[in-house]
Amino acid sequence: MNQATNTPKKRIFSGVQPTGNLTIGNYLGAIKNWTALQEDYDCLYCVVNQHAITVRQDPANLRKSTYETLALYLAAGLDPEKNTLFIQSHVSAHAELAWVLNCYTMFGELSRMTQFKDKSAKNADNINAGLFTYPVLMAADILLYQADLVPVGIDQKQHVELTRDIAVRFNSIYSDTFTIPEPYMPKTGTKIMSLQEPTKKMSKSDANENATVRILDDKDTIIRKFNLAFTDSDTVVRYGEDKPGVSNLMSIYSCFTGKSFEEITKDFEGKGYGDFKLAVGEACADALAPVQSRFKELMKDKAYLEAVAKNGAETASYLARKTLSKVYRKVGFVQF
Ligand code: TYM
Repeated sequence: MNQATNTPKKRIFSGVQPTGNLTIGNYLGAIKNWTALQEDYDCLYCVVNQHAITVRQDPANLRKSTYETLALYLAAGLDPEKNTLFIQSHVSAHAELAWVLNCYTMFGELSRMTQFKDKSAKNADNINAGLFTYPVLMAADILLYQADLVPVGIDQKQHVELTRDIAVRFNSIYSDTFTIPEPYMPKTGTKIMSLQEPTKKMSKSDANENATVRILDDKDTIIRKFNLAFTDSDTVVRYGEDKPGVSNLMSIYSCFTGKSFEEITKDFEGKGYGDFKLAVGEACADALAPVQSRFKELMKDKAYLEAVAKNGAETASYLARKTLSKVYRKVGFVQF
């Protein structure tokens, strides 16, 4: 129950793929915002390792990244007593519901997904069926838990919209089965751009290491990467479409300090980009330092991480089975 309103808490679901070192895009666009929701919502956060294999992964690295991603959820401040934290492959209902939903999703809809187009261009030698039906698995993740809200960055909005379309279609054929979810996005931080090409999203898999800041980068690295960040030729710290590099740095600074764009412009009036970039680097490194030290402690305690994941999977499986059995009944599968 929500104590303030005395109504049942709304349900939240989200996840991150355990593919390599997470960036401040993942942190500011997703994980950091989740911590603010844990008191007022009933939240489930998943490490979506089944999504990860749509692109070829080294098995040992995938296992390591799975533990690391869970540790980052905890290090960022998600309390396992208040949130359900789990690993996708531990709850088989995700793959089971995805199969059913595949039969209610159109080829044309999936062909229009911009992430599929981007990823198939980047992985031209491995355009597998999983990469194509990836958004259906994502819809299953969300719909299994009857989520009301899905906190994501802008790049995932199209997938949440497709999830809504699939849910509406299924409900209209079989009567109300799924809650229709909505994307949930804060004002800033939903699209952190590359530091080297600020018209492109900051991405975990960018080949240019200077384009991304990783959550686990040390202070010197963070300051150096911001110092190298691409900016434009004038020297005014101002937000605007004509200044994508500076605007991106302002968004990052605003997320870490809570300052508005007006305040930032005022604070850096008459100062050059050098001072501003240093301030952004310091604010970022200082904000990430406590997350990094908690992360290091957690990674030493694998048994604890496993206990969190096991508990989370039990809670998630119970909720997921309820939805799956309802779906199976509606479509006409015999159940004993
Ligand atoms: P993934 O793993 O690519 O990213 C995890 C989250 O980080 C956000 N994000 C960003 N936000 C702002 N700026 C950026 N540069 C940036 N890069 C990434 C993403 O929007 C996302 O919120 N398909 C999803 C994972 C997923 C999922 C789900 C999410 C699977 N099932 C169900 C929500 C609900 C993905 O690949 O995210």
